[in-house]
Amino acid sequence: MRHLIDFGDLSRAEWDELYARADKIIDAPERYLDACRGKVMASLFYEPSTRTNFSFQTAMLRLGGTVFGFADPRSSSVAKGETLKDTIKMVSGYADVIVMRTPWEGAAKAASLYSDVPVINAGDGGHMHPTQTIADLTTVTRLRGGVDGLAFGLCGDLKNGRTVHSLIKALAKFKNIRFFLIAPRDLAIPDYLRQFMQEHDMAFVEVTGLETVIPQLDVLYMTRIQRERFIDPLEYERNKGIYILTGSKLARAREDLLVMHPLPRVDEITVDVDDDPRAVYFAQARFGMFARMALLADLANMSRSVPAPVEIGHGPVCHNPNCITQTEDYLPPLVKRNGEVECCAFCDTPLSGF
Ligand code: CP
Repeated sequence: MRHLIDFGDLSRAEWDELYARADKIIDAPERYLDACRGKVMASLFYEPSTRTNFSFQTAMLRLGGTVFGFADPRSSSVAKGETLKDTIKMVSGYADVIVMRTPWEGAAKAASLYSDVPVINAGDGGHMHPTQTIADLTTVTRLRGGVDGLAFGLCGDLKNGRTVHSLIKALAKFKNIRFFLIAPRDLAIPDYLRQFMQEHDMAFVEVTGLETVIPQLDVLYMTRIQRERFIDPLEYERNKGIYILTGSKLARAREDLLVMHPLPRVDEITVDVDDDPRAVYFAQARFGMFARMALLADLANMSRSVPAPVEIGHGPVCHNPNCITQTEDYLPPLVKRNGEVECCAFCDTPLSGF
């Protein structure tokens, strides 16, 4: 692994190695005080963040490294119209690793084409959020001893929730996982992920009701309805507040259920659930910092390498209005296959059917 764009970039063996390091860091963080001594992390956040931004920054500081960057692109030359490519060419000259979050799907993949140093996707629009997945899997593995064989309920906005998309792709690497995909029809998982699950023989059912499936779950992964991703505000109004987990609903759940949430929450988990021992979402955020330490200890110490020249594009590769190719028209026309389907290599949107 040189960049982390999608959890699919990691083999199961690489994940096992990463988790083993995270596990050791959690047990003895003082042993890693110099793991990134002299290394510099660039933190480019084009979108708001609390957990991902702060946990990456504190992870690097706890490893002995330093950090620069922005939490608002208007404070950089992005405000003057600088392209993503030029920003990345500059920043990769200053840093040893780049962590970036953007509203555009496929932006981290685009950045990786031009960067001399590893790029870590800290969330690209509604597409992927692989380091949240690393935090999630670290939490489940620490608290349940492993991931294989568990029943996961993924609940909420499965269409726009990038944490869910990354988690599904990651769980393809584990054995005997059963999924309950709990979402209103408007907010069901994207077609390319449904196809992905079918091609990987992943066992899943799609349901609209939360209460009926709660007793069957080992992990309940709640998500926020992602207001900022809705093109039609009426669709948001129709779906907001649709799932609210309360203490009384948990009464029917297993004693060892893990209630997880990538956070931030709005109203989908009531505050009385916070004191239930099964609610692990705040611990999950802290495990996320240790998991990111494990990732940085590896990627920030890689040697610099100039990427191969890439073809110059002449317009958008795909029709997804949120794809990075819509705004950065020099990007090469990269296509990949997800099973039988040709997709945009940046955002995974199928290229046929438009
Ligand atoms: N879970 C997560 O990505 O939170 P932030 O948006 O606060 O980083």
